[in-house]
Amino acid sequence: MTDQTTYPPSDDFAANAHVNAAKYDEMYAASINDPEGFWREQARRLDWMTFPQTIKNTSFKSDDVSIKWYEDGVLNVAANCVDRHLEKRADQTAIIFEPDDPEKPAQHITYKELSEKVNRMANVLLSQGVMRGDRVVIYLPMIPEAAYAMLACARIGAIHSIVFAGFSPDALANRINDCGAKLVITADTAPRGGRVTALKSNTDAALLHCSDKVRCLVVKHTGDQTTWIQGRDVDVKYLMEHASPECPARPMNAEDPLFILYTSGSTGKPKGVVHSTGGYLTYASLTHEVSFDYHEGDVYWCTADVGWVTGHTYIVYGPLANGATTLMFEGVPTYPDASRFWQVCEKHKVAQFYTAPTAIRALMGQGEDFVTKCDLSSLKLLGTVGEPINPEAWNWYNDVVGKGKCPIVDTWWQTETGGHMMTPLPGAHATKPGAAMKPFFGVQPVVLEPTSGEIIEETATEGVLAIKDSWPGQMRTVWGDHERFEQTYFSDYKGYYFSGDGCRRDADGDYWITGRVDDVINVSGHRMGTAEVESALVAHAKVAEAAVVGYPHDIKGQGIYCYVTLMNDVEPSDELKKELRTWVRTEIGPIASPDLIQWAPGLPKTRSGKIMRRILRKIAENDYGALGDISTLADPSVVEELIENRMNKG
Ligand code: WT7
Repeated sequence: MTDQTTYPPSDDFAANAHVNAAKYDEMYAASINDPEGFWREQARRLDWMTFPQTIKNTSFKSDDVSIKWYEDGVLNVAANCVDRHLEKRADQTAIIFEPDDPEKPAQHITYKELSEKVNRMANVLLSQGVMRGDRVVIYLPMIPEAAYAMLACARIGAIHSIVFAGFSPDALANRINDCGAKLVITADTAPRGGRVTALKSNTDAALLHCSDKVRCLVVKHTGDQTTWIQGRDVDVKYLMEHASPECPARPMNAEDPLFILYTSGSTGKPKGVVHSTGGYLTYASLTHEVSFDYHEGDVYWCTADVGWVTGHTYIVYGPLANGATTLMFEGVPTYPDASRFWQVCEKHKVAQFYTAPTAIRALMGQGEDFVTKCDLSSLKLLGTVGEPINPEAWNWYNDVVGKGKCPIVDTWWQTETGGHMMTPLPGAHATKPGAAMKPFFGVQPVVLEPTSGEIIEETATEGVLAIKDSWPGQMRTVWGDHERFEQTYFSDYKGYYFSGDGCRRDADGDYWITGRVDDVINVSGHRMGTAEVESALVAHAKVAEAAVVGYPHDIKGQGIYCYVTLMNDVEPSDELKKELRTWVRTEIGPIASPDLIQWAPGLPKTRSGKIMRRILRKIAENDYGALGDISTLADPSVVEELIENRMNKG
């Protein structure tokens, strides 16, 4: 045993939990020893039009990766998330909508109302010529229409691709074009934290770079004025009012794509991660119930945005598949003040609360009063996701928010994995601050030696984290580029799914995620490819070269550090730094805004011209002692110059 403090669930919690310690061991063993049997049984969580005979058909062979679950099963995701609940819970709230402005009333949307909205929206999509297999881009804020749109697509077999509302017009256009969307759904404007984003005008700007056949459905959310292009722009709410509230749910094959979600990698443009219908929903439903120990009648709140995978799986699909009450929050944790999260928990009697470490760190800095003045007695469980949580933030979450009585689930997973891969189960495991602890059912983590790729068998060890066999929620391919899928996840370590993360396994066999081992950085729980920021920077006329790395940031986890080499005749200035920052924001979006820009007369390169990021990361971290071997550099003197510049900045 490690000498570390552990936090076991209370006897009471464990006794009432879906899964206790003995049951975890038993179910985990069953899921590994007999995956077919285990996942056949789990498929019964869903309603199938045709129950699958073939359960698992998967191969991780690096040049022939093929992942199929329930391949002969037929079902519809919207029927599972809405229709099948109508008999028992027509009048139960499906979605609580809490608006940005706390003065505005919250909405309680029952399953019956949800059904009507989804059916109407599905008929609107059909009337616009959207057919099975067509792609629909959703560029909406956190409003119920986002959930209606997702489920409406699922109902008619269209594939949605949500683009986070914080992305720029350019980023939106790239995604519309990459997936060949027929239609984009947006809103007029989006209030968030008291500020307003002009989504429709962003969409107008994006559509200048897209086929003129792409239609634009607009949710008039705020009623703010926008431009209107006759024949292209359509008022969704108006059409929904006039559409039929009945639309048959299309029978879909389990392996039909449900959605595409773009995510950043270490190289190239963002990848369209493709998720399936049957396997994804089974996995979303099971993980939501078990990891959060969701029980009938609980109000569950995940603070993510539907623009990220967390919002897909744990605001919409998982909870609704389970007939839960899920809360959608339009705002931010600090508006009108740092008490907002806790006020919303009190107001709606939230039982399970799931957020990102970056939010916890930001709120922790504001003091305890914002928390303690609220009645949080409804809380039963807390969760975190998106990045490693530092023990200090974990302890604050546990003591101040959870009052020491709520288990904390630190859930490790990725856009690619569809759902939780490692997490303590709240009624089964004694948690450790900062540890993702245990694999979920069906997940076989392995720790590999980074260079040889050999499995490390010793219990206590550190290395790269890979997964030995498929699980139903796994992504199926990269949209339009299966080779890239194989190349990115299955070629470095043959026979395994490579996560891109490093991890440590302690003497008890519990897992700790140590962070990315590739050129991906994690800024406030948002995943960012350094290459994307670099290509945005070099697209500026005054920039000759750029290298971007992450550096430790108190609130964001990692900040974006940019080394910029200017064109010969350009003078560096603070003005220009500002200009570059604005430039990156317009190229990618505010989430990619550089935190620090350092002028670099030269970048450390090998003789073959490869930038040595290892060195740049160390300099950004202010860690000059361990630069390692710099003798292979073409011009070692640039390093001294960079250090000098860095130190002058303090
Ligand atoms: C990367 C995936 C799917 C969740 C939202 C982010 C990091 C995620 C944890 C955690 C440590 C974590 C990893 C992973 N990450 N959860 N609990 N502890 N790190 O999804 O944008 O696809 O990012 O987020 O580095 O690879 P994503």
